[in-house]
Amino acid sequence: MGEGFSNVYEDGRRAEAYAKLEFPGTYYLAYRDLPAIFSEHVRGRSALDFGCGTGRSTRFLRALGYEAVGVDIARNMVKKARARDPEGEYHIVPDGDLSAFPAGAYDLVLSAFTFDNIPTREKKVALFRTLRRLIRPTGKIVSVVSSPGIYVHEWASFTTKAFPENRNARNGDRVRIVMLDVEDSRPVVDIVWTDEAYREVYERADLIPLETLRPLGTEEEPYSWVSETKIAPWVIYVLGVDAGQDRPPAPRETGGRASAPPFSIERASPRVRPFGRWSARRS
Ligand SMILES: C[S@@+](CC[C@H](N)C(=O)[O-])C[C@H]1O[C@@H](n2cnc3c(N)ncnc32)[C@H](O)[C@@H]1O
Repeated sequence: MGEGFSNVYEDGRRAEAYAKLEFPGTYYLAYRDLPAIFSEHVRGRSALDFGCGTGRSTRFLRALGYEAVGVDIARNMVKKARARDPEGEYHIVPDGDLSAFPAGAYDLVLSAFTFDNIPTREKKVALFRTLRRLIRPTGKIVSVVSSPGIYVHEWASFTTKAFPENRNARNGDRVRIVMLDVEDSRPVVDIVWTDEAYREVYERADLIPLETLRPLGTEEEPYSWVSETKIAPWVIYVLGVDAGQDRPPAPRETGGRASAPPFSIERASPRVRPFGRWSARRS
């Protein structure tokens, strides 16, 4: 698997379309809860945005008060990121090589959708090891990825009905999906990756999943949700190097709130907190 897999984001037309994208529809759910997740898990302000694309996720971090550096392998995407945010710091990096960045220097590494396009288990493990090297001992990696369900349902911002073969895809297979919020209607080719397979990757990379969130849309939100209120399009993993550093002992997993949960959640700790539309709170 992975032979001949190309990064669709190298493409100039794709970069152009992506550069106009903010947080519409289904994407809103990927970002909605990040401020609260960061507030809870991240101490400090230095951040690296792995797979920054045209800078949407880096600008998001900067707006929350992080000193964020964006890195990406796709020249066209980084060019757009710099044009849009001349004050920001964006770097083109060789695939798998972040040696130009200091070890143990970051409080937060964000990876928003980057692993959706990374083909094999070996490559995912190697990259997560590289990201692990960058964070401080108390630092966190927050990885937002597509859930396998996104490739077999219809969404406010995506369609997959032209690709019934996605239903037969197994972990590591290619799947196709069309973004509805951009002018470029060519399908994006992703690699489907299950929760179980991600957990194996984290284990091999010596990372501990501290929290796993699956955001759901709510009826109060100003979007015409399609599947979003019932099926989570994204999975958000909070990863650390030391499970015991910021949580009480006796790990256990909990479900979401009993009434209208905006997401389901598995925690590595028994703490409870209110859910909802959280505002950015920085420490
Ligand atoms: C779907 S885009 C997401 C961009 C951005 N994070 C956002 O939320 O708008 C994924 C990005 O990951 C980048 N990417 C893929 N593999 C990468 C790698 N090995 N190292 C750095 N960036 C990578 C792609 O070039 C692409 O720009």
